Amino acid sequence: MQISVILAHPDPASFNHAIAQAAIDALKANGHTVFFHDLYQEKFNPLLSGKEIAKGATLPVAIKNHCKEIAAADGIVIVHPNWWGQPPAILKGWVDRVIRPGVAYEFREGDNGEGVPKGLLKARAALVFNTSNTATQREKYFFGDPLGTIWKNCIFGLCGVAGFHRRMFNVIVTSSDIERKNWLHTVRQDIDILFSKDDTVR
Ligand SMILES: Cc1cc2nc3c(=O)[nH]c(=O)nc-3n(C[C@H](O)[C@H](O)[C@H](O)COP(=O)(O)O)c2cc1C
Repeated sequence: MQISVILAHPDPASFNHAIAQAAIDALKANGHTVFFHDLYQEKFNPLLSGKEIAKGATLPVAIKNHCKEIAAADGIVIVHPNWWGQPPAILKGWVDRVIRPGVAYEFREGDNGEGVPKGLLKARAALVFNTSNTATQREKYFFGDPLGTIWKNCIFGLCGVAGFHRRMFNVIVTSSDIERKNWLHTVRQDIDILFSKDDTVR
């Protein structure tokens, strides 16, 4: 299967990079084809221009390629830290420019954009790995877990990806080497469950 892996973290020595690498290694070991984008490394331009907004707009080649890949993906893996309850701006811009009308969703005939769109992504599962420095209970009850809502409801649910899975690793700043090693083991296990060797996506 073809799996897209999208990473948004500026530091190659970060735990987020280690997560992405562990996920890629496990996907490849399971026989999948991986399309990997380290958005900072490729200097992805996150600014959606006015000309690009309309469905059917002419797109720059780099964006066209991103769109083609995400439309063809059987599975999607996203890796990023919690920054102010949101993805880093570079990834928000990737969503703005790539998860676009005609590629990831469309409105039904007679609907000018006010209704509930139809999801177009063919991927059957999306797996989001997040890191943060906030304990789970506080993130959930004090902040309302905004990242869960964004990825599950606002993005993948809306775009027709039926299987949504998310794993949050916390608290990074006080974590030990052993803890981080175990977390990377969890990443590999998650990949094995969702994108197994037998070519199925759960
Ligand atoms: C700009 C910025 C905003 C952040 N906002 C939050 C936040 O809202 N909640 C939180 O728990 N951690 C926040 N953090 C901490 C990061 O989530 C944390 O450094 C990261 O998950 C650690 O992973 P890493 O070692 O891969 O960088 C923020 C960090 C930065 C740089």
